[in-house]
Amino acid sequence: MNIPEHVAIILDGNGRWAKSKGMPRTYGHTQGAKNVEVICREAWNLGIKYLTVYAFSTENWSRPGDEVKAIMDLLRSYLKTCKNTAEKNHMRVRVIGDKSGLSEDIQQSIRELEEFSRDFDGLNFQIALNYGSRDEIIRAFNGILGEIRDGILPEDTVVTEDLIESHLDTAGIPDPDLLIRTSGEERLSNYLLWQCAYTEFYFTDVHWPAFSKDELVKAIEAYSSRQRRFGKTGEQVE
Ligand code: FPP
Repeated sequence: MNIPEHVAIILDGNGRWAKSKGMPRTYGHTQGAKNVEVICREAWNLGIKYLTVYAFSTENWSRPGDEVKAIMDLLRSYLKTCKNTAEKNHMRVRVIGDKSGLSEDIQQSIRELEEFSRDFDGLNFQIALNYGSRDEIIRAFNGILGEIRDGILPEDTVVTEDLIESHLDTAGIPDPDLLIRTSGEERLSNYLLWQCAYTEFYFTDVHWPAFSKDELVKAIEAYSSRQRRFGKTGEQVE
């Protein structure tokens, strides 16, 4: 099996999964958060080096206030326990997205977690929080303009792919080889638009809290068979 180096996941279906069990949506989010831990471990065991999950989008703020609050409380406690998981599994954790839009205590937890895990050599785990790809690209361009204004970059700077990439939240992280979206929707929803230019997509009807190791293996098998047929450059090899 050809194991992708970087897998990105759109975690979808927490609410529908909870509803199918006669439970409130927040229960779905709690179980969804638990499943993130499981899939981090399984991904590393399978040989995946980078995993990036879409936990909270710039659009998710428009959900009902009590649901947003429940998700933020869940993220608060998740970021705390994540420190132990990172230590146990030598996992390096980074958060992508506009952190300045998150509450100060969450920003502080993120800083601590990123600093604490920065030299770990296990799974590189990225959590997209208050993330939207268009917002990321706009922030990257504003960052470039700011550096030109401040004299860090020359006035006659020419925009290149490398220059843009180095100003994205994902700077230094390889592009995803495989993107998985759970729960039946088949769209990108403003996730890693730049980074997914050559990424293989895999969609499944399984809701995120029920997405098990076996489901991950199925996704990798599908990816692996496409790679065998077409190779990495798009050239037919079989
Ligand atoms: C997806 O299901 C849920 C979200 C995108 C919101 C929050 C995600 C989590 C709590 C997962 C935990 C992640 C971490 C890193 C702790 P949905 O509510 O969109 O489900 P639906 O489409 O069935 O309504």
